[in-house]
Amino acid sequence: MRTPVINAKRIILRPFCNNDLEDVFYGWENDPDVARYMYWQSHNDINKTKKWIKEEISKIDSDDWYRWAIVCKDNGKVIGTCLIYFEEEFNAFEIGYNLAKRAWGCGYTTEAMTEVIKFTRDKLHIKKVIGHCAKVNKASANVMKKLGFKFVRNMPYKCNEDEEPYEGEEYILDID
Ligand SMILES: CC(C)(COP(=O)(O)OP(=O)(O)OC[C@H]1O[C@@H](n2cnc3c(N)ncnc32)[C@H](O)[C@@H]1OP(=O)(O)O)[C@@H](O)C(=O)NCCC(=O)NCCS
Repeated sequence: MRTPVINAKRIILRPFCNNDLEDVFYGWENDPDVARYMYWQSHNDINKTKKWIKEEISKIDSDDWYRWAIVCKDNGKVIGTCLIYFEEEFNAFEIGYNLAKRAWGCGYTTEAMTEVIKFTRDKLHIKKVIGHCAKVNKASANVMKKLGFKFVRNMPYKCNEDEEPYEGEEYILDID
């Protein structure tokens, strides 16, 4: 299914386009603080970001990968991204998100993911969604808890192409 545009209160979720390059690169991809617990590494090469956007655009009609740019209605800027995708390792749909640092702590991720969960329930008809985070990443765990996810287990959390995994946590949401 094509990744849809979703209209929320303060934000719009929409697929990425090439014009998002600078917002993505300067907003988060070159910021090690945002990348710390992500699967990707921060970089200072805007061409890598260009390639990333191209790959995301190529997946817009995928049935197992739904990624959105989170756009602030106030100023039209892309402030972050969120996704739900099928993770083969766990045989389940998994969520992910990150915001530009300047947008942290304003409830934007909770607002975005609330819409993503509604989409998952109403359009994908999926009953179970999982999420993982590093134990020290309280912001991420709190987003999931606010959305109704429940703690499942402790497990290693490998990210950022680091050699050693962090202590991590797995969460699950049963959608009714
Ligand atoms: C994780 C992240 C996306 C959270 O986004 P956010 O928009 O700031 O989160 P929200 O504002 O929706 O906050 C959700 C809840 O988490 C809490 N929270 C936010 N930041 C927090 C922090 N640094 N420490 C503890 N709790 C925090 C909020 O207080 C809120 O709960 P409340 O409404 O009861 O107060 C953002 O911090 C980020 O981009 N981090 C870097 C990337 C990342 O780690 N992604 C997740 C990888 S698993």
